[in-house]
Formats: sequence, C-alpha cells, structure tokens
Amino acid sequence: MMKSINYTKYPLPRIRHHANPVLYFPLKQLKGERFFYPPVFDSVEWNELFQNGKPPDMLDIGCGLGRFLIETSLTDETKNILGFEVRHGAVEWIDNVISSESLRNVKALWYSAVNGFPFIKNETIEKVFYFFPDPWVKKRHYKRRAFSAELLGEIHRVLKPGGKLYLMTDVPEVDEFQQKVLKDFGKFEFSYADSAAWDLPVKTNHEIFCEGRKIPFVRIICVKQ
Ligand SMILES: C[S@@+](CC[C@H](N)C(=O)[O-])C[C@H]1O[C@@H](n2cnc3c(N)ncnc32)[C@H](O)[C@@H]1O
Repeated sequence: MMKSINYTKYPLPRIRHHANPVLYFPLKQLKGERFFYPPVFDSVEWNELFQNGKPPDMLDIGCGLGRFLIETSLTDETKNILGFEVRHGAVEWIDNVISSESLRNVKALWYSAVNGFPFIKNETIEKVFYFFPDPWVKKRHYKRRAFSAELLGEIHRVLKPGGKLYLMTDVPEVDEFQQKVLKDFGKFEFSYADSAAWDLPVKTNHEIFCEGRKIPFVRIICVKQ
C-alpha cells in the first residue's frame, strides 16, 4: 500500500509570498553586493540527495511547499524527483517532511531555476513540471518571469526524446505569454489537456487552492520534438 503522510504533524511556516526580487534573476546578471542568494553550482553528488544514488527522473520547477513533489515521490519510489524553489523557508519545511518521513527519492533544492541546470545531464529527465508560476502581471515585473527561451532551452536539453513538460496556470495573461514563448522556441509540440488527457495522479498546493475556490485554470502538455 502507498505510504500516506499526515501533514497536520508539520505546521506550515509563515513565509513571504515573494522572495527578495534579486532571486528571480540569474546570478551572473547581478552586480555589486552579494545578497542572500541560493548557491549556483555545476555538479551534484546524487548519492547525497537520493538513496539509490541516481540522478533525478523528474523536475518540479518552483515546487513551493512541495505537496506535488512529495506526493509524486510516493507514487513510484523507484523514480527520483527533484524540486527547485527560491523561498528558503519552503525548502526547509519540505526538508523536514522528507527527513521525518524517511523519504528517499525526493529532494527540494534551494535554487533559482533561472541559472539553468548545468548539473543535470542531457536527455536524462522524463518529466518537467512548471506549475502556477508567480504571474508578475505588472509590466515592470515581466523580467522576473522565469519562463523564457533560455529556460525552455535547458528543459529541452535535459528531457529525454519525447519527454514532457507540464504546465498549469490560473492567469490567462501568463498562459498567453507562455504559449508565445513556446511557439517562438519551436521545439515542443503543445496543446491544452483536459482532465482525461492529464496523466498526473497528484495535485499541487495551488491546484487544490484553485479547485477549492472554483478558480479556473488551464493545463498544457508540451512534448519534446
Ligand atoms: C505560486 S507558487 C506555485 C507553487 C507550486 N508549483 C504549486 O503549484 O503549488 C510559485 C513558486 O515558484 C517559486 N519560484 C519563483 N521563481 C522561481 C525561480 N526562479 N526558481 C525556483 N523557484 C521559483 C516561488 O517561490 C513559488 O514558491
């Protein structure tokens, strides 16, 4: 039987909705004073992250409080899933759940995805999840959006042939923006997925929030060409 986690044992931390704005920019673009910025690195000892010592099979970019990350790890303990999250408090909370529950195939890294993922080898990842990104709707904040040709290039590089990128958003303007970036990038075939086509058995924190409040959202599956 699949393990289930009693999350009431883990009171949620009080963390700010957004992190320090510098965290949304690649480290190489930042000048001057060093901020509280997540480490950027080129290699990872996978045996320090996952019990089977292997690299990840799935990535969850912007995993937030990690419900999807953790629950997905329980659906198949032979697959490793790695989350990236810029809010340090969220990563600490996830770490505590992972170690308290002795989970061996899941890890959240305090890491800003806009630095790319040079520590992940080409064509090794089956699925990448990018769910409910911060919308940054004000024009002057567009540059904080992580979804870009550079990020898509990294996702495309690490995905196996035919690998999938899954998207969800409840902000129509973000959906439009992401589809434009995808179209211009040109190396993914993508389309909206209804509930029948959506092959993920687990929901994210924000997806559960939207469903509870009857907030509409869209799902898109992108297949690497
Ligand atoms: C609205 S939350 C959604 C969380 C989760 N994916 C869900 O569906 O519940 C977006 C998350 O992305 C994180 N994030 C934003 N920019 C990021 C970046 N450059 N690298 C990693 N995480 C990022 C935010 O800190 C936040 O936790």
